[in-house]
Amino acid sequence: MDDWIDYYDSTHTIYASRLHRDLHFQLIARDIIGYISSPDAVVLDYACGEALFAAKVAEACGKLYLAEPAPGVRGRLIARFAPNTKIRVRSLEDLRKMQEKSIDLTVMNSVAQYMTAAEFDAALGVIRRLLKPSGRLILGDILRPEVGMLRDVIALLRFAASHGFLKDALIGLLSTALSDYRQLRSRVGLQRYGEAEITAKLARAGFTASRAPFNIGHNPWRMTFVARHSF
Ligand SMILES: C[S@@+](CC[C@H](N)C(=O)[O-])C[C@H]1O[C@@H](n2cnc3c(N)ncnc32)[C@H](O)[C@@H]1O
Repeated sequence: MDDWIDYYDSTHTIYASRLHRDLHFQLIARDIIGYISSPDAVVLDYACGEALFAAKVAEACGKLYLAEPAPGVRGRLIARFAPNTKIRVRSLEDLRKMQEKSIDLTVMNSVAQYMTAAEFDAALGVIRRLLKPSGRLILGDILRPEVGMLRDVIALLRFAASHGFLKDALIGLLSTALSDYRQLRSRVGLQRYGEAEITAKLARAGFTASRAPFNIGHNPWRMTFVARHSF
């Protein structure tokens, strides 16, 4: 396993059970919907993963592009959402060929930590080109330098306890600790950004950004940013 895209394309144990996986994607869909400002909006979910509740997001907007780099995940998205005329599945390369200024809202949740700094900058360039001048980029689940893995564990266990899958979460944590995840986390690592650092990075890419009051998803120690074209 070379990188995080391979990891997410594999049969990993990041979701402790089917219930955990479903609750996760339900929560992400609900939070994305909260950022949709018009029923006609064209929305892009950048590195969407399995996006199990994308049909709910599509109900709340005009068109939903699901972009995903992992080929196996993308194949499942294509099969799952083929009947849904509002949803289109794309690779990250496909995004470079899409019409500029065609997207109202881009969400990139829990992705920046897996990218190298150069990949992140390139992604911001692609996203900026695609966003309408009035559009917004929501960057969610950013890890802060001063917050370690223990908080991730506590956040997961709290989420699990309040939704009745604590035992599965404990087993899941154990299998993740013994899996490729642990090796990748120590070999490739996860990128972390402070608030000022990410704001400066976004400014260099042509965005003005501010921190949202709540993070997308279940982990309150991670951060979400709302960015707009700075012109
Ligand atoms: C934790 S999942 C997040 C999925 C979804 N956005 C969510 O919030 O549930 C991480 C996603 O990042 C993608 N990914 C991993 N490394 C990447 C990279 N270097 N560039 C772009 N995407 C990457 C994976 O394929 C996976 O879909």
